[in-house]
Amino acid sequence: MQDKPLQVLMVCLGNICRSPTAEVVLRSHIQNRNLADRILVDSAGTSSWHMGEPPDPRTMMHASARQYDLDGLLGRQVTPRDFEVFDYILAMDKENLRNMMVDCPPAHQDKIHLLLSYSDSDYLEVPDPYHSGPQGFELVLDLVEEACSNFLESIIQKHNLT
Ligand code: 4NP
Repeated sequence: MQDKPLQVLMVCLGNICRSPTAEVVLRSHIQNRNLADRILVDSAGTSSWHMGEPPDPRTMMHASARQYDLDGLLGRQVTPRDFEVFDYILAMDKENLRNMMVDCPPAHQDKIHLLLSYSDSDYLEVPDPYHSGPQGFELVLDLVEEACSNFLESIIQKHNLT
């Protein structure tokens, strides 16, 4: 049994739509598996645009219809320390991934993956919903729910978290 909890960071551009959604969805899956003391989840943005702000109201509304509560979350930017502290850093799209790779020391770059590399869907990236209608926010939830479920099963097996 590992002593230190695994730490997972979800990352998008603004940290007000996709990555806070992924944070609460993964945390909910973790709680359902009674692993809350073994796996910790956080989220951040590659930009500083929405630091200190709550998630987008549309994100909160669509998530809440599926019983996910984003109350209390506040936007923050990825920091150099994140690359040391987190075990898995999951980017919502390729631009987020590329931007982190520029800043991440080579020794930690293998922690950075696309979230949807764990998905069985045809999507490789979680599309940015910011300029979309309601269907964009529903798509984020659909993609994130499926990928988080697969990701959790994958790390449970890899790290013997049973
Ligand atoms: P997110 O979405 O990266 O999923 O949080 C966005 C939020 C804000 C902006 C773009 C994307 N923006 O241009 O302010």
